[in-house]
Amino acid sequence: MIQWYPGHMAKAFREMDEKLKFVDLVIVLLDARVPKSSFNPEVYRKFQNKKILYVLTKKDKADPVDTQKWCDYYSKDGNIAVSVNAKANDASKIVMKAVIKLMEEKRKKDALKGIRPKALKAMVVGIPNVGKSTLINNLAGKKIASVGDKPGVTKTQQWIKLNQDLELLDTPGVLWPKFENPEVGFNLALSGAIKDNILPLEDVLNYGIDLLKKKYPGSLQKRYEVSEEESDYLLKVGKAKKLYTNNEIDYNRICMLILNDLRNGYLGQITLDEF
Ligand code: G4P
Repeated sequence: MIQWYPGHMAKAFREMDEKLKFVDLVIVLLDARVPKSSFNPEVYRKFQNKKILYVLTKKDKADPVDTQKWCDYYSKDGNIAVSVNAKANDASKIVMKAVIKLMEEKRKKDALKGIRPKALKAMVVGIPNVGKSTLINNLAGKKIASVGDKPGVTKTQQWIKLNQDLELLDTPGVLWPKFENPEVGFNLALSGAIKDNILPLEDVLNYGIDLLKKKYPGSLQKRYEVSEEESDYLLKVGKAKKLYTNNEIDYNRICMLILNDLRNGYLGQITLDEF
């Protein structure tokens, strides 16, 4: 069971509650490879009186068929879901278009009441490493948020005026105190949302290998030339790739090899969550 809840995340949740009353909408970033595990209904229940735009990031690394299913799933109750590669040129256009569509009704109502349109205020939330900084930089057209390859880089909340239509409140990446289902912890670990140095790597990878064999048969075999019929798959990959340290098979190196291949998309476009 993986648990990770540093103090700054508890603080971030409290601040999120306080700031919620100032925003018109919430932009919830979900990782398209873990669109269920990166969503927590308990946490997001706070947003029930707000319009929500779900942005599934890293669509370039996820299974396109699954991504479409998850976008359809989250596009309900008047909310909208879109998928993006947060690094790509079209991401900001996709997001801005969705924001305008989501807020169209409110804007019309305001106009009828004679309220002049003001910049919309949006809170951006998501788990560590989901791509908040990348997307915000893309929307702003310049580097304003700190982007990092280690989870938890964004640590303080800040207002960012993007244009005359939209202001963003960037919040630190948050994970929840407890994963009800152990698979959620494993999926988040595989996706890179939890710092690797606190992970039980072998357990995470054994879980990942079983999942890949079942959901994407052939993907491991193609990459490592080790039959998926083999048991003790980590060991067999280690031997095939000669991952020894001091003449002993090095499980840490094997785990990191497969983990990096999975995260970098070398095992294909993969969605870890089952629909
Ligand atoms: P955060 O603020 O939510 O913590 O996430 P951040 O933007 O720092 O992104 C974390 C990593 O994920 C970065 O990789 C970023 O480039 C990558 N990333 C974010 N969105 C996408 C996406 O839609 N597609 C892909 N393929 N990658 C995405 P990095 O390793 O730190 O940098 P880099 O090597 O990609 O430059």
